[in-house]
Amino acid sequence: MNQKMLVAEKLATAIPSLDLEAIYALLEKPKSSEMGDIAFPAFSLAKVERKAPQAIAADIVEKLDTNGFEKVVATGPYVNFFLDKAAISHATLTQVIEEKEQYGQQKRGEGQNITIDMSSPNIAKPFSVGHLRSTVIGDALANIYEKMGYKALRINHLGDWGKQFGLLIVAYKLWGDKAAVEANPISELLKLYVRINAEADENPELDEEGRKWFKKLEDGDAEALELWQWFRDESLVEFNRIYDKLNINFDYIQGEAFYNDKMDKGIEILKEKNLLQESKGAMIVDLEDYNLPPALIMKSDGATLYITRDIATALYRKEQYNFVKNIYVVGQEQANHFKQLKAVLKEMGFDWSDDMLHIAFGLVTKDKKKLSTRKGNIILLEPTLDEAVSRALSQIEEKNPNLENKEAVAEAVGVGAVKFFDLKTDRENGYDFDLEAMVSFEGETGPYVQYAYARIQSILRKGNFTPAVDNQYQLTDAESWEIIKHLQNFASVIEKAADKYDPSLIAKYAINLAQAFNKYYAHTRILDESPERDSRLALAYATGLVLKEALRLLGVEAPEKM
Ligand code: ARG
Repeated sequence: MNQKMLVAEKLATAIPSLDLEAIYALLEKPKSSEMGDIAFPAFSLAKVERKAPQAIAADIVEKLDTNGFEKVVATGPYVNFFLDKAAISHATLTQVIEEKEQYGQQKRGEGQNITIDMSSPNIAKPFSVGHLRSTVIGDALANIYEKMGYKALRINHLGDWGKQFGLLIVAYKLWGDKAAVEANPISELLKLYVRINAEADENPELDEEGRKWFKKLEDGDAEALELWQWFRDESLVEFNRIYDKLNINFDYIQGEAFYNDKMDKGIEILKEKNLLQESKGAMIVDLEDYNLPPALIMKSDGATLYITRDIATALYRKEQYNFVKNIYVVGQEQANHFKQLKAVLKEMGFDWSDDMLHIAFGLVTKDKKKLSTRKGNIILLEPTLDEAVSRALSQIEEKNPNLENKEAVAEAVGVGAVKFFDLKTDRENGYDFDLEAMVSFEGETGPYVQYAYARIQSILRKGNFTPAVDNQYQLTDAESWEIIKHLQNFASVIEKAADKYDPSLIAKYAINLAQAFNKYYAHTRILDESPERDSRLALAYATGLVLKEALRLLGVEAPEKM
């Protein structure tokens, strides 16, 4: 059981004027661990009891049943509880050893689905760092929800529909070269797209052509569809290479085009509820009541828009997957779009629109400057991941030249480093993309945590350790106690990360646990002959298990040797 709750329950019998919840809420962590593990401040009782808080604290200790604690003392106005380290370390180590990878697993979400809209790059355009963030944050959230017992559905809402594909078809027909696109799909298609946009600024007829071609595409014109399909296939080959490197899988790839034949239903409901208004020939939903600009649902030629497809998507997801939450992991810059989307669904009468959440994240910079394709400040993902792997490899060469499978380990370390760095950032903040800092073995990095894990495995091999469930493991020293407290917190950290939609809490937890272990390691000769040897090894083993599981939640591998 949660130690704080145990303390609250004990106190409740000695403090009749406060209920359990109120007592629980008052409990604090003492400033230093020499003052104990949990403190109850008596100030708030002074008024009711008409006594000095110091006297109240002393009274409470007097009345309290201190069984199960190392000791309980009144220090000034505080009642300080010292937990029973021997008993708790024994219980915690035994639990981790018994439950293994299941340690921290929860049941809260059983039988419930959460859909996670993640990654969702646009075809014929480079996979951006924004899409990288969406991919790794979305995947980590999915892992975290699964650990909470939910079924998480990872959905890639590819940007594969819209007027831009009409324009791209026009550009290809004017200037395209099949062989060039086949050799270098995304960069060639991007060139065509940039060119047609620039020329359309001068020549509005091109724009009009693009509009027509998109309309043809929506209406199922064979030539338009064939070109579109080709652009899409070629783009996916590139995206899939990136997903392979990142080790990311989706339950569904349902892009915008998937909804082309599923938009009528939403539009019908909008009409039925009299929500559509005409404005300059187009159809809009007024959102003044929400202080939002109107949502443009249909153009004058009947063509649909991004939000029209997102309305169809939400309806489809509710119907097919009956989500309890529908999460969109998308950059902050689309905040208004998702506000509009929710507002339109609300107007349509769907209260479940409250279960739709835009999980936004901040911008990535490079050399502290905003990324900009025009100014040439860009991060091309594939070469960047390769560079991360090769930097990891050279560090491994230096530290451990005889390691077997060096390449595979470097892959796990390099890619893991990029993911970890992204995920340890408070989600709503951005960060500067600094490969050197990411791949460093020092500091708050993925490799640092991975290295702690690998060191533990090496200790366990040397110690020839096999955990026993019916053991007498227990430890009472200050350094191991720090680790035990972290291990105990694992489940509640996972829950907090789920509730705040923030994987950085798991990343920070992993760093703290790795640091606590390294401190222990510096202080204690784990493998030396001693009556505590088995308990120390058990502590190392449990720490390793939990570190690996924390990394897994972040989508980061933990090599056995490094
Ligand atoms: N393709 C969009 C982009 O790259 C992101 C899509 C997000 N998901 C959604 N359902 N709108 O900006």
